[in-house]
Amino acid sequence: MKHFIDISNLSKERLISLLNASIQKKNRSISKEDLNKVIGLFFEKNSTRTRLSFELAINQLGSSSIFISSKDSHFGQGKESLEDTAKTFALYLDAVVMRVNNHKTLNSFSENSTIPVINGLSDLSHPCQTLAGLMTLIEEKGSLENLNLVWLGPITNVAHSWIEAHKLKLGFNLYIFCPEANLVKYQNKLQSYDLQTDLHNIVFNKIDHDILSSTDAILTDTWKSMGEEINENDLHQLDKFCVTEELFNKAKKDCIFMHCLPASRGQEVEEKVIDGPNSRIWIEAKNRLFVQQQLLKELL
Ligand code: CP
Ligand code: NVA
Repeated sequence: MKHFIDISNLSKERLISLLNASIQKKNRSISKEDLNKVIGLFFEKNSTRTRLSFELAINQLGSSSIFISSKDSHFGQGKESLEDTAKTFALYLDAVVMRVNNHKTLNSFSENSTIPVINGLSDLSHPCQTLAGLMTLIEEKGSLENLNLVWLGPITNVAHSWIEAHKLKLGFNLYIFCPEANLVKYQNKLQSYDLQTDLHNIVFNKIDHDILSSTDAILTDTWKSMGEEINENDLHQLDKFCVTEELFNKAKKDCIFMHCLPASRGQEVEEKVIDGPNSRIWIEAKNRLFVQQQLLKELL
């Protein structure tokens, strides 16, 4: 693996071993490693967790990070080509984490880059988030075998990465409940990136209560992703897919709630769920640190 642009860059075996190594690292007392590399963080969009967890992960690897906001760079302002920017990054950096508006930027950048490029979120995918989610599930449930995961709401970048993880046949079942319009939007996005995915038996336009009653984890995301258009009608259609306390109580008793964050309490999820005893949002957010540290070690 030269770059980490999507979950599909990993084989099933490589992914499982990365997750196991991340869990082992978490369970050992933190000892600073001595990698001595320089990692750039090039961001076109806002971030709290991704920036913090990568900066800390890099620091704990005995390496240094340099943050480059697109607003302050020539490339971000359309004054320098992608090719020249990629060459320049490689003069000074050992790897670069990129958060971009358009996934094509990641594809072109990785094609032009001699240093590893890591996807820190694009409009299409958020693979680092799904790594942290998978790690959380293994910690909480012992393994991914036979788990039933339900995703509620729009098929966002995070949901796309879960679909990719599901394709690796890691043992879990994935069910996505969302309005028809959101499925169409997602299919259009896939088409714009020349991608095809079989969503048969995965995406449903209404909540299936039989599936819900055997659900081990419910996942969702903000309904207003950065850079995405959403109107009042879209929001209204999503109302039925809010993770309410009533809905959550219909899942298995030990069902956990996960969310990539940032969250809008009262919109995609009720406070009683996200701040309730079965929520694992903070564990998932913390796990970003461990999976990204392991990822960096494997790429560098
Ligand atoms: N989940 C996540 O990537 O959060 P940030 O947007 O804060 O980085
Ligand atoms: N879908 C969200 C995820 C944020 C981490 C967004 O793209 O804004």
